[in-house]
Amino acid sequence: MSNTVLVTGGAGYIGSHAVLALLQNGKNVVVLDNLSNSLRAALDHVENICGKRPVFVEGDIRDSALLDQVFSEHAIEAVFHFAGLKAVGESVREPEKYYDNNVAGTLTLLKTMNQHGVFNFVFSSSATVYGCPSEMPISEETKVERPTNPYGRTKLIIEDMLRDFSDADERWNIALLRYFNPIGAHESGLLGEHPQGIPNNLLPYISQVAIGTLKELKVFGNDHPTPDGTGIRDYIHVVDLVEGHLKALDFICEHKGLHTWNLGTGTGYSVIEIIDSFEQVTGQNIPYSFTERRAGDVAESWSNPAKAKVEMNWVASRTLEDMIRDTWRWQSNYPAGYASTPTPTH
Ligand SMILES: NC(=O)c1ccc[n+]([C@@H]2O[C@H](COP(=O)([O-])OP(=O)(O)OC[C@H]3O[C@@H](n4cnc5c(N)ncnc54)[C@H](O)[C@@H]3O)[C@@H](O)[C@H]2O)c1
Repeated sequence: MSNTVLVTGGAGYIGSHAVLALLQNGKNVVVLDNLSNSLRAALDHVENICGKRPVFVEGDIRDSALLDQVFSEHAIEAVFHFAGLKAVGESVREPEKYYDNNVAGTLTLLKTMNQHGVFNFVFSSSATVYGCPSEMPISEETKVERPTNPYGRTKLIIEDMLRDFSDADERWNIALLRYFNPIGAHESGLLGEHPQGIPNNLLPYISQVAIGTLKELKVFGNDHPTPDGTGIRDYIHVVDLVEGHLKALDFICEHKGLHTWNLGTGTGYSVIEIIDSFEQVTGQNIPYSFTERRAGDVAESWSNPAKAKVEMNWVASRTLEDMIRDTWRWQSNYPAGYASTPTPTH
């Protein structure tokens, strides 16, 4: 078997951390990214950390001729598939864009893999496929429900598609990784999240308030049925998350078929708890006010990550303090993400 992994979306937030981890683990990496939500500079930072660089192909997963060329030129063993659009609000306004990019793009990728005899596939799914579960924590046994928005439905459709492919052809080895809430940054302070425009997620938003780019945090709802009324989520360090991908790849190469794992810590924190911890860890003040709940937001969501521990010997080891400290280190080094003039202070 070759030693090369194709990472779609490898210039993005999670993808760039996965590229680093793969290179550090002795893999060759080919990145395919259309840079619709990322900058090539992320890969320069990967090289600064580990002294190695992936092959970079700028292009789109919907371009079957380009995919054909990539698979012809490189002896690819497996695909980590991060490429996708992920903004929930935008998916409500422009569902066609999401079905085209995420669903049609993934189908094009799978068809090309099949043509080239590559069947190891690790997919970035999401806890959003559980819809509004009535019981916490969420295990892989929890019934998958209709996700509350088009973005989530693209994830569920892709999961179903992968299940059908696996049922029809036993050569497919597939990991469905259902992420909870990835946050944090590489501990070097050189690699992190580079949101374009106003961030959609809590931690990038808070850290931009702390750095002074945004004025105040709007907390969506203080009337959820939770102890302090704000939403509860299971935050997971991005480096723990990508370690889960490497374990998943090893696992599917040894245990054929399709496997599903939650990647979370098993602990939920409310928005208020996150703000308090951020203030404590960083010493920064975070002004905030409450606003209406967002349509489709569930009150609470946290994982039971036991299956990943039992089957792949994977656990998330980094604490909330680690996640916040690493986010803040990255944010203070690169206030405008990869577009910043580098001024590392840590
Ligand atoms: N970040 C999260 O909170 C979260 C949670 C659950 C699941 N996910 C999933 O994980 C994956 C990675 O998320 P991320 O946070 O790193 O997002 P990101 O936007 O930083 O990375 C996605 C990358 O894919 C690229 N891309 C998008 N469409 C493409 C296409 N058609 N062809 C080629 N490249 C394309 C973008 O340019 C970007 O670099 C996504 O599939 C996302 O849905 C993310």
